[in-house]
This record gives sequence, C-alpha cells and structure tokens, in this order.
Amino acid sequence: MTGDNVYGDDELAALYDLVYSDYDHDLDLYAGFARRGETPSLELCVGSGRVALHLARAGLRVVGIDASRPMLARLQAALDERTAPNIRLVEGDVRAVDLGERFDMVYCALDSFEQMLTPDDAAATLRCVARHLAPGGAFVAELRTLRSVDWSGEPSPLRHEWTRAGADGSTVSKFSSMRASLASQTTTTALIFDRVPAGGGPVHRRAFDVTLRVFTRAEVELLLRAAGLRLAHVYGDAGLSPFTDDSDTMIIVAEGEGS
Ligand SMILES: C[S@@+](CC[C@H](N)C(=O)[O-])C[C@H]1O[C@@H](n2cnc3c(N)ncnc32)[C@H](O)[C@@H]1O
Repeated sequence: MTGDNVYGDDELAALYDLVYSDYDHDLDLYAGFARRGETPSLELCVGSGRVALHLARAGLRVVGIDASRPMLARLQAALDERTAPNIRLVEGDVRAVDLGERFDMVYCALDSFEQMLTPDDAAATLRCVARHLAPGGAFVAELRTLRSVDWSGEPSPLRHEWTRAGADGSTVSKFSSMRASLASQTTTTALIFDRVPAGGGPVHRRAFDVTLRVFTRAEVELLLRAAGLRLAHVYGDAGLSPFTDDSDTMIIVAEGEGS
C-alpha cells in the first residue's frame, strides 16, 4: 500500500486470497522462529492471515497489524474456536503504529516489506520493528534479490497464469505482465483478473498495477542500522539455505543492536 492500497476493497481482498491461498513455502520458517519466543509474535502487514492463521492453528499467539479493513475482515471471518484466542488484530499503518508492547519475533512475510517504496517508508517501518522488538528478539522478513528480476526494461509479454474456481462458483483467470525500473529500483506488475459468473454471463474484468521495491542486501543492512537494528543472518530461502549468488530471495534475520 503506502500509495494506493491494492487491498483496499472486498473484491481485491478476495482476489488476494485466490492468488496466495496455496503459498506455504514460508509457514514453517515463521512457526520455527515463533516457537523460540515466549511472547506472541507480531506480524506487520498481516493481510488476510495466511501466515498468522498457520501459527494460531499450531497454538502460537500472534498480533497482526494491517491498514486494510477488508483484509482484516477476511482474517476475522476465518477465525474459529481454536484460532480466535491466539490472534489479536490491529488496524493501523506499520510506519506509525506503537502498541507499547515488545515481542520476541516481529515478521513481515512474502513481499510485504517491498511495499515500502521509498527509503523514508522503509526506515519508518523498521523503526516500528525496533520499538516492538524485545531484547534478544528477532525480526524476520523475506525479500526478493536483484538477481530475481529481469532488468531489461521491457515489459514481459502478458501471460495467462491460471484459471481457478472462485469461492462463489465463478471462474477466475489471472493474467500478468511485469516491467522493472532500475532508476526507481521497482517492479510494476500489471494484473488482470477476468471473472466469468457461475452459469455463464458477461465477463467482469478487474485490472490494476502492483509496484514493489527491490532492496539490495547492503541497503537493508544500512536501513536496519539506522533504525537501531543489526543484520544477524541472511539466508537464501525459507528453508534457511545459505545465501549465494544464485539466490532469488533473501531471508533476513535482524536483532536489536544491544542483543
Ligand atoms: C501482500 S499482502 C499481505 C501479505 C501477508 N503478509 C502474507 O504473507 O500473506 C500485503 C498487505 O500489506 C498491507 N499494507 C500495505 N502497506 C501497509 C502499511 N503501510 N501499513 C499496514 N499495512 C500495510 C496491505 O493492506 C496488505 O494487506
């Protein structure tokens, strides 16, 4: 978000779940770090709860912050007897929130931190991390690497990614094209979703762009330091493999400077 919120209405929030509901590569990563702590974990940009619900089902407690009411409403609606006692939700902007509490793990999953398009946004979010991190606690986040992006400047051809059944029985097809800008260190993905209602009828099209920042390792290290945090480890994937020249993602683990 932090410019236009691409998760700001019910239809967009539902499309998010249709796209990401089967993303599970990182669930064990965050559960593993959460188990090391004694306090609840704090998830920045919790969205509709893809990760938070996994932790709550495992008996781990989570406080989730998000700026999108529709995304939080979906998470609230997904809670049941087992998970509801383990999840507390806060509507707010992760650049500014101050809960007055400290957590053994603060995390920001998937591409959520990459929504911080300017150095000021990223710095403000990391200051939020610093004021919520308990002594000895860890901040964990996933970021793409420079290597993972095609920097040629040409938009990739519009591609049909999949066709899936929507929750209401409709059929949804996803198309996307990405272009990267080296000057702004961003990628912008043009997304098109075509929905055919159950039983046929006119196609409803929803089209929008998602712009995300690509951070370098050194930049992250400096941003963390400016916020009073220290980069403790960088891994190459959610399985904590070594970070190498061939890594498409960085899993960063940061600690408070005094830790
Ligand atoms: C990619 S989605 C959620 C991803 C979720 N962490 C996951 O792993 O499935 C990104 C979320 O970030 C939220 N968001 C963006 N900017 C924000 C901000 N400045 N403060 C709080 N939430 C924000 C959006 O509302 C959206 O729900």
